[in-house]
Amino acid sequence: MIWLAVLLFQAAAGTPQTEPAQATTFSGPPQAQRGYKLFFESTKGQPCGACHVLAGRGTPAGPDLKAVARLPARAFVMAIKSTRTQYVQKVEPKTGDPFPAMKVKEDDKVVELYDLSKTPPELRKMEKAEIGSMKDNDSWKHPPSSLEYTNEELADVIAFIKWVGYRHSAGVKASEL
Ligand code: HEC
Repeated sequence: MIWLAVLLFQAAAGTPQTEPAQATTFSGPPQAQRGYKLFFESTKGQPCGACHVLAGRGTPAGPDLKAVARLPARAFVMAIKSTRTQYVQKVEPKTGDPFPAMKVKEDDKVVELYDLSKTPPELRKMEKAEIGSMKDNDSWKHPPSSLEYTNEELADVIAFIKWVGYRHSAGVKASEL
């Protein structure tokens, strides 16, 4: 039955998550637990979980962080604090104001994207015919780039991501960042 598991796994991998998810429990090492709390409940601006899904909870308005979990801790901090973007696009509807967005799904006619001008980000389904153009983002900045997270807090959050991503249990030291 291994082939079945493989097929199911591929099906899951091929279907991007578009809707928010709400798991209610998490268990892991103490530092990852602290990181989990910050990730979803930090009151410094919007918490990470307003835009990222991890451990079955959060909103997929940003990339899946499991894919980058193996980054060295310092590279993580750079990605978190970066003011440049790689995926976010500026959507210019034919009528209405342009807005920054993260595309999560598309077919021939419809694009599903998160409108990042909204707090929290809002999932919108737009007919392609409604969209004038999609360009490189030139205004949206990753919110944590301007928030004062301490190295201890960042280490906890990264330890949480690494635990979920590949069961990294050694934790992350604030002094490594
Ligand atoms: C308002 C939504 C929002 C919040 C809040 C947010 N992020 Fe993000 N994050 C994004 C988006 C959108 C991107 C993709 C940016 C781009 O285009 O490169 C991103 C990118 C990232 C990346 C780079 C991922 C990659 O594949 O390159 C990391 C790491 C990250 N976020 C971590 C965090 C952490 C940790 C927090 C909380 C401290 C956080 N984010 C809070 C929306 C958000």
